[in-house]
Amino acid sequence: MAERLLSPGVLFLVGSLPKLTLPSGIAYLAVSYLKLPRWVCIAASVSAGPVWFWVRSIYRHLLEEREIRALGAVRVPEVKGKWIGNLDLVVGRLKQGKDGYPFDAVELMIRRYGRTFNMQILGENRILTSNPAHIQRMFATDFEGWEKGDKFRWQMSALGLGVFMADADLWKFHRQMTRPFFNRDKITNLEVFSRHCEDALSVLKSSEGVAIDYQDVAFRFTLDSAAEFLLGVRVHSLHDSTARSFGPAISSLQHQLAQRSRTAPLWPLFELKGDKTRKNLETIRGFVKPIIKAALERKEMNQGSSAESETLLDELVAQTTDPKLIMDQTMNVMFAGRDTTAATITFLTYCLATHPAILTRLRAEILAQLGDIRIPTFEDIKQMKLLRAAINETLRLFPPVPGNVRSAVKATTLPPDTPGGKPYYIPKGAKVPFSIMAMHKSKEYWGEDADIWDPDRFLDERNQRVVANPFIFLPFSAGPRICLGQQFAYQEISFFIIRILQSFESIELASDAQPPESLPPASWANGSGRKKFEKIRPKSDLTMSVQGGLWLRLKSRV
Ligand code: HEM
Ligand SMILES: *[C@@H]1O[C@H](CO)[C@@H](O)[C@H](O)[C@H]1NC(C)=O
Repeated sequence: MAERLLSPGVLFLVGSLPKLTLPSGIAYLAVSYLKLPRWVCIAASVSAGPVWFWVRSIYRHLLEEREIRALGAVRVPEVKGKWIGNLDLVVGRLKQGKDGYPFDAVELMIRRYGRTFNMQILGENRILTSNPAHIQRMFATDFEGWEKGDKFRWQMSALGLGVFMADADLWKFHRQMTRPFFNRDKITNLEVFSRHCEDALSVLKSSEGVAIDYQDVAFRFTLDSAAEFLLGVRVHSLHDSTARSFGPAISSLQHQLAQRSRTAPLWPLFELKGDKTRKNLETIRGFVKPIIKAALERKEMNQGSSAESETLLDELVAQTTDPKLIMDQTMNVMFAGRDTTAATITFLTYCLATHPAILTRLRAEILAQLGDIRIPTFEDIKQMKLLRAAINETLRLFPPVPGNVRSAVKATTLPPDTPGGKPYYIPKGAKVPFSIMAMHKSKEYWGEDADIWDPDRFLDERNQRVVANPFIFLPFSAGPRICLGQQFAYQEISFFIIRILQSFESIELASDAQPPESLPPASWANGSGRKKFEKIRPKSDLTMSVQGGLWLRLKSRV
């Protein structure tokens, strides 16, 4: 309730008030009671705050040292910023979002501090890692020891109580309910993609030869497909302009949530006047509400019949009457289903446009299996090895979910970065953000050619790297919280790419049509890695996309 009345900034300040004023207040009262001169009172209350923080941090340090000895561990190297509380790192993160290549700053820090380092901000631990052994611990072997946590849920408030945000019992509830909708029967039926894909093709064909924002079409295709598959509704965002405000509102909301993580833990101070996500949330909810209402009416009508739920939404309303839970979970799965697959389709097509030899080979694989017009089945897609490898390679270099975070339920350790070293100490409650993207591009795990998009990496002897350690490749996460939509996503992406290559002869970048501010900055040419030759600007919010859209010119095959 309070959250609806007070802005995040005001809530944050009110919450911090005791911490900021209590030491001064107590000092003032104590000194007044002793009837000391007025200047002593003032001096005591002014210095009480800093002294209290100093004493507390020494006390905390001593407690941690005891835990470190007991665990036989060492501290994670600490990033030394220039300003008090490392606040310059927050400014750096905001700048990075403006003109950098995603995770540049992380790679710089890896060079300086090693693969794991603590970017403490105002005393709050943020232990960043891109070590697969750490991620394996958090995802799988020590799953119970890690959670998303309350602070992260507050930061991500817009996603509420859906499957992405939930921990413990609520997460289990969502997971159990959602899983049956991704069983083999449901995902081998590719009909759901067919109609929306033909809609997308007709949009693309209608602007043949002129530049078009392909990413925008991909977004609308995945939105329409996910809405039909999960909610049982035809959204028609590919045709209907009223449905079109929904997609941009999702993208804008994502950006706002990503800004919050860039400025965490101080993000509420940027939202003093009000919750910045509210407007986008209203747009999204306005769109989803009638869909939920229809599902509730269906439930009324079917009262008493034991028919199996057709869609995830029907199942949701059958199992709960909590309107917030229904809304949040519906939004969560729409988020999950739209942006990630659209990003993969977009980046894969970009890579094909810039690697014509692979494009030719991939088309040959597709035509050998299907000819010019036959629609692919699940079995057809299974035969297409190069297609699968090209999707994997795209997910490696442009992981749609490039990073994420967990926090430690209790004090624990993570394996050392160098063999034979002592494990790293992780204090209770510490946030451990991890960069899947930095891991996927690391030469340490992928070899010297790690920056190059080369699908054959998943087909030749280089594939041994990921066979030997599957945790170096985690686009879909792993362990009990592994992506539920993985197989659905592979089918959807494959279906779309197959139909594109059956339909279009040439795919060319239309950089001239790209909004100028979305082209790679001139400074990138002097950079290292992909920066040097990238023709578009990858953008990383909660998920990846191409900044300004992917502008292409397409030419039909016949
Ligand atoms: C290329 C496409 C996709 C990628 C790369 C991807 C990636 C991921 C990742 C990394 C997670 C873990 C998130 C976390 O731990 O916070 C996840 C979870 C999830 N994904 Fe996907 N996803 C994709 C497509 C989809 C699709 C199409 C759907 C549904 C239609 C979907 C549904 C889900 C759900 C329901 C979860 C939550 C699982 C849980 O927390 O138990 N995903 N996905
Ligand atoms: C793609 O990656 C998945 C792991 O996510 C793996 O199971 C599959 O074998 C890979 N396929 C190819 C062709 O590389």
